[in-house]
Amino acid sequence: MNEIKKGPFDDDPNAREIIDIFHQMYYYSSEKTWENSFWLGYPTLKCPLDMWIYQEILCKIQPEVIIETGTYCGGSTLYLAMICDMLKKGDIISIDVEEIKERPFHPRIKYFQGSSIATDTIKIVKHFISARKKIMVILDSDHSKKHVLQELKIYSQFVDVSSYLIVEDTDFNGHPVKPEFGPGPMEAVEEFLKSNPHFSIDYSREKLLLTQNPKGYLKRIS
Ligand SMILES: C[S@@+](CC[C@H](N)C(=O)[O-])C[C@H]1O[C@@H](n2cnc3c(N)ncnc32)[C@H](O)[C@@H]1O
Repeated sequence: MNEIKKGPFDDDPNAREIIDIFHQMYYYSSEKTWENSFWLGYPTLKCPLDMWIYQEILCKIQPEVIIETGTYCGGSTLYLAMICDMLKKGDIISIDVEEIKERPFHPRIKYFQGSSIATDTIKIVKHFISARKKIMVILDSDHSKKHVLQELKIYSQFVDVSSYLIVEDTDFNGHPVKPEFGPGPMEAVEEFLKSNPHFSIDYSREKLLLTQNPKGYLKRIS
């Protein structure tokens, strides 16, 4: 069984408490900050600190393809595409069950409507990847443990060594927000890692302290 490494603050309850309180303030603020953030006018359900980390990962990995499950309004997708523009590399396939008409157009983005775990979707994703090798995956769709675990099993196969499989919103179910949510992304990650030694949590990606993806930056190590 693969043992999950401890995080940098797991043995420092004072630091953990300060980070968690700030996290909860950010999440539950009267301005509803996390639901009220935009990239060039498009709603984006991401903490800007995580978006900075995405930029650092993209620069380091230089992926040829980014797979995003859970498009919503396309703000995060456009952000990724614009970083790819600056790197002069990378296309994105973004998958969502819902169609939202006002999503941004960008030549590097392909939107696909369907469930992220449906057979047809996987076929389209494989076709989109084609012969390209450097693949990065972001899981940000249905956040139930069952769904995320299915996504992890399916999409982990596409990620090459040294690239990332990022699981969003591992902060649900009391880690430290939405304690009422029930088993979600964090619990899926924990179960996935137990039997998958090819991935390891990259805690260095939590260096900005507030992240909506604690233990969610998974790096392929073998
Ligand atoms: C958290 S939002 C995505 C946020 C977006 N990535 C961002 O950062 O702005 C989750 C999205 O997942 C979609 N979704 C829910 N279940 C899904 C499924 N089974 N397959 C694909 N998308 C799904 C929802 O329609 C919703 O738009």
